[in-house]
Amino acid sequence: MTRIDRASLEQTFHEQARIGATPRGGLTRLALSDEDKVIRDRMVAWLEAAGCAVRVDRMGNIFGRRPPAPGGEALPPVVMGSHVDSVPTGGRFDGVLGVVCALAAIRALNAAKARTRHPVELAIFTNEEGARFQPAMLGSAVMAGKVPLEDAYSQRDRHGVRLVDELERIGYLGPEPCAARPMRAYLELHIEQGPSLEDAGLPVGVVEGIVGIAWSRVTFHGAQDHAGPTPMRTRHDALVAAADVVKAVRHIPLEIGNDMVGTVGWLDVHPNIVNAIPGKVVLTTDLRAPSEADLDRAVADLEVAARDAAEAEGVRIEYESLMRVPLTRFAAEVVDAVEGAARRLGVGHRRMLSGAGHDAQHMATLCPTGMVFVPSIAGKSHCEEEATAFDDIEHGANVLLHAALTLAGEA
Ligand code: HGY
Ligand code: MN
Ligand code: MN
Repeated sequence: MTRIDRASLEQTFHEQARIGATPRGGLTRLALSDEDKVIRDRMVAWLEAAGCAVRVDRMGNIFGRRPPAPGGEALPPVVMGSHVDSVPTGGRFDGVLGVVCALAAIRALNAAKARTRHPVELAIFTNEEGARFQPAMLGSAVMAGKVPLEDAYSQRDRHGVRLVDELERIGYLGPEPCAARPMRAYLELHIEQGPSLEDAGLPVGVVEGIVGIAWSRVTFHGAQDHAGPTPMRTRHDALVAAADVVKAVRHIPLEIGNDMVGTVGWLDVHPNIVNAIPGKVVLTTDLRAPSEADLDRAVADLEVAARDAAEAEGVRIEYESLMRVPLTRFAAEVVDAVEGAARRLGVGHRRMLSGAGHDAQHMATLCPTGMVFVPSIAGKSHCEEEATAFDDIEHGANVLLHAALTLAGEA
């Protein structure tokens, strides 16, 4: 059986990890940043060196296409992909490992002079993290028709810079339409970003789907004032109202249970100095659940809690939904292809759900989709400690390769 070249995979991985490297061994490579341009250029060069024709679409999504056996040119491709952007002081594996493993799979097909009935493509999606521009998974969301291109273009980062201007600046505002097209299947290898595989002592996760996710942005407008002479009874403190929301984002998932999680990860206080009562606070909420009914209930409960907090403190509230991606179930055919590959390779595996969002969530609305997970050491991710053992990566990459071969058909 064809195998990926582990030494080459490791070398490619360590080379990409130097782009945006942080002093503590992590990665800061925000979407459409200078570092993102460098990794994109490097990936394009690697794809071209692997004999792939490279195209870039209007959202900066990159596609490298390995030609099929003669006669298969018009057949829909099997696409393997993920993302290369990271969160600030994030890990070296999140997203980019899937791209590096997909590249290793293409290189293995080349080394084996393997021909496939369907073309095989590698995809790199723009702004998956949603760290710089919201919402997350934006490149695949536009491709799936979930977010209009113009809405994505007009998103601004914390400094007011527009997404479209950054695409232009780094040279990745491509000519290709960012839209649905026929695809045989989509496969994504990704680190688990949780503890399940490590706890089970298994190298591969056969992912059956992804939890539902709801993001919102809440802005409280209070009365900025002096921290000293202002009597408590006359205060309208935006941060006090925000504190109620932070507590609600903890309590609501605990009350509903069923593996629901909630996070407030972003909280900006203005003017954020010792001796002024905060006049404005902006925060985000992130709720996730393996049940759509539970998630809908939590989203509704949270909005009520936020509006009650505003009323209690006498501050004005702006409440906006940033993202709502439903619980996603992957196609049985692709899940079976991943599981079958693991079985044939004799690799330990188990079926599981993803607690993290991925571009696969949107791709699943376009074509049969599935994912391959590899373990995260101590379950850590979105931090500089993020790591995965290369023995596990090698197993995962071989499962990705053989699942893709199953779906693309060997000519
Ligand atoms: O938010 C997520 O789950 C992913 O890392 N974008
Ligand atoms: Mn990711
Ligand atoms: Mn991530």
